[in-house]
Amino acid sequence: MRRFLILGHKASIEPDFSLNDLPGAAGRIDVLCRAIGASLFLSHGIRNDVETNLLLQDSVHVRIHGQYVKRLNPDERSTAALIKHALKALAESSSDHEVRSTPGITVMRRSLPEVLDVLLSENAVPIVLHEEGEPAEMFAFPENPIFILSDHAEFSETDQLALADFPRISLGAKALHTSQAITITHYLLDRLEEDRNADLVLVHKVWGEPKAQLIISLLEDFDIPVNRMMQAPPSVYPMALDGMAEVRIMVRPRDVDKARRIIADYFETPVEK
Ligand SMILES: C[S@@+](CC[C@H](N)C(=O)[O-])C[C@H]1O[C@@H](n2cnc3c(N)ncnc32)[C@H](O)[C@@H]1O
Repeated sequence: MRRFLILGHKASIEPDFSLNDLPGAAGRIDVLCRAIGASLFLSHGIRNDVETNLLLQDSVHVRIHGQYVKRLNPDERSTAALIKHALKALAESSSDHEVRSTPGITVMRRSLPEVLDVLLSENAVPIVLHEEGEPAEMFAFPENPIFILSDHAEFSETDQLALADFPRISLGAKALHTSQAITITHYLLDRLEEDRNADLVLVHKVWGEPKAQLIISLLEDFDIPVNRMMQAPPSVYPMALDGMAEVRIMVRPRDVDKARRIIADYFETPVEK
């Protein structure tokens, strides 16, 4: 599962905020609503495998489960109404457990360290999104990530203390809106998933490991990851033996055209069958 946790530093924790003034008196709940939209909506549906978490003023934890949420619409006002409803349910509850306010939305009083404890106990792997982190392109994303972002403000000192042990990754030097950072994160993870699930495609066949290595190194210089498939190990069978040392050069579907162009430009017409 993919999760997001957005820290809302000024967001109201009382249900009496006005839906007519989300950026003002409600404490930038508009930023949180856009982040909810960016994390959960597709063009014509909801991402079922996403959970969006809000932490309001380091004291109220709201969870929105993509698989179960109902009545969530792309507009900020109706999303804010669901948050308002959650805060009302919390105010009226005396339970020590998460309170379900509407289908797919739960709420509970928790601080950031408590939220992190809960998420870690559910095997989520925290990753902080920060302009000054390690470049996202170099990062090996784990299976069950939770991306932690701030709202319109910087992470506070208390946030930074609680998050100090987790990796920080950057989507570039420019400071983006929270919702923009979420959209780019989805894009990166969607691409990785597509690559993981796609069958590799044959772009060329050569005879012998040395020549294959030249081509593979060149493709890798152009940022094209390559898999090679050999008919038989060349150290065991002499390359002169027909078919014994054939090396098949395989790439991701999205790299096929580029790889074939490079092979044709630098070496020879690719053998594709
Ligand atoms: C509006 S920014 C926070 C304030 C921002 N540091 C500023 O200078 O205005 C919202 C959040 O989105 C995430 N974010 C924004 N730009 C980012 C980037 N280039 N790389 C990674 N995360 C980013 C961070 O979590 C950040 O705290």
